[in-house]
Amino acid sequence: MGHHKLGVVPSGVELGAAITLSAVVVKEARYKRLCKSKKILTVNGKFPGPTLHVHKGDTILVDVYNRGIYNITIHWHGVKQPRNPWSDGPEYITQCPIKPGHRFTEKVIFSEEEGTLWWHAHSDWSRATVHGAIVIHPKHGTSYPFPKPLGEVQLIFGEWWKADVMQVYRQFMASGGAPNISDAYTINGQPGVLYPCSKRDTYKLKVEYGKTYLLRLVSAAMNEILFFAIANHNLTVVGADASYTKRSTNDYVAIAPGQTLDCLLHTNQNPNHYYMAARAFTAGPIAFDNTTTTAILQYNGNYTPSSSPSFPSLPYYNDTSSAYNFIFSLRSLVSENHPVYVPIHLKKRLESTIAIKTFPCYPNGTCQGPNGTRLAASMNNISFAIPQRFDILEAYYYHINGVYKKNFPSFPPFVFNFTEDYPPLYLNTPKRGTEVKVLKYNSTVQMVLQGTNLVAGLDHPMHLHGFSFYVVGWGLGNFDKHNDTKNFNLVDPPFRNTAIVPRKGWIAVRFKASNPGVWFMHCHLDRHLTWGMDMAFIVKNGKSPQTSLLPPPPDMPPC
Ligand code: C2O
Ligand code: CU
Repeated sequence: MGHHKLGVVPSGVELGAAITLSAVVVKEARYKRLCKSKKILTVNGKFPGPTLHVHKGDTILVDVYNRGIYNITIHWHGVKQPRNPWSDGPEYITQCPIKPGHRFTEKVIFSEEEGTLWWHAHSDWSRATVHGAIVIHPKHGTSYPFPKPLGEVQLIFGEWWKADVMQVYRQFMASGGAPNISDAYTINGQPGVLYPCSKRDTYKLKVEYGKTYLLRLVSAAMNEILFFAIANHNLTVVGADASYTKRSTNDYVAIAPGQTLDCLLHTNQNPNHYYMAARAFTAGPIAFDNTTTTAILQYNGNYTPSSSPSFPSLPYYNDTSSAYNFIFSLRSLVSENHPVYVPIHLKKRLESTIAIKTFPCYPNGTCQGPNGTRLAASMNNISFAIPQRFDILEAYYYHINGVYKKNFPSFPPFVFNFTEDYPPLYLNTPKRGTEVKVLKYNSTVQMVLQGTNLVAGLDHPMHLHGFSFYVVGWGLGNFDKHNDTKNFNLVDPPFRNTAIVPRKGWIAVRFKASNPGVWFMHCHLDRHLTWGMDMAFIVKNGKSPQTSLLPPPPDMPPC
């Protein structure tokens, strides 16, 4: 089927010239894990999929072929795609899906991102196996803000079900309850030695003694935040979500679905073999996959390895203080070459609750949610309904009525003690709707994301398409605009595309709406996304053609 290579465009070339074609072929392939073989959806037959290498500022064209049996879209997670939501990917938000047998040529426009991102399917739950890393190298002639490592490697975390993922998804949709938990986590597609039939294929990273390596961590897990550590070794975080951070040395990290972390690893321990391991961080009152995935760090050279590699100590599953100590310790690198632009004078203040909710069961149905209800989720009490016939971007661009409404509330419609132990039950049922928030071009926005304890208080990794935002504050309990604002970090806050809202707590994020388009925001735990913990922004055009949406590509998939 020709060469399915992901192409690299030399940077520094004029746009228009700086384009090469590469191809992504979505198709089924047979994979065996946990002693059981099944067909999974892949890109180019690979799981995880191929890594896309680019340089900062490149623009590339990718031909996405759907040779699978389901509708599909591909999202370039964390790529801001200035003025080009057409290739962003979320199904029925910015495009209709690519049908089996069809093709869509996507223009992926990189701008300020540098470091690690990833791409994934953005339709039903196919991203479980349809994903891969994006490595954004510094521009030619520039270098990392840290000494050049001897080697670089991606570590992609995933979640594996023995059953067909589409089956898991359908059953989940039909049951009204929580989805079946996964059977394993994976590192670069392999579960590791603690699972059946997995020992031989465990991922192994071979290193030289006394060097530095750059580990590019990507969490493609579906429904859990993970702790990760390497026995006897520290991880020095230098970047997160394709933005550099101040160096921060840790003996474990926490990473949520959607996030990436660039870490330096110093191979300064006795030459030996060591386990790396990841397992869930989850503090809520719900069932989760409590298994542990492993890989091996192995020093080259002549030595007698210990009979069994030593195992890292990971924080306990519900160790929120270890999780938050790590998560909220990250700071942006601030330097001449890496300035930060935290919005100070705000044009728009938004606050949204994020909540697990319930609907009454379908008429005559049986539902597995609490007390026979159907589980749901919401932002500002609206459980987002993904359109089914048109996508929002198309409806916006061509003025098609009836696809979405512009009434996403700027503040929580009900004010209560959001994080108390037993919030009033009548608040459990949300409205349903496709409500967007319209923002003026270049307005400076602050959004407070307030966790609630309705139905189940949990941590939520919230992701915004089209932007990264500065996480200027966080706290436990309810956000207090008078006192909490005083403590905001406007100097070196982390610049992320996915940030964890702590359980029964809040975060405040700021961004400048300088990217016209339709941009989805949602929890990156897929069960919550599916339940409606979502909303979308429409950022209007600026005054000039250079500050307006690009025209749609000629081959947008028809709805
Ligand atoms: Cu990683 Cu809406 O996506
Ligand atoms: Cu969530």
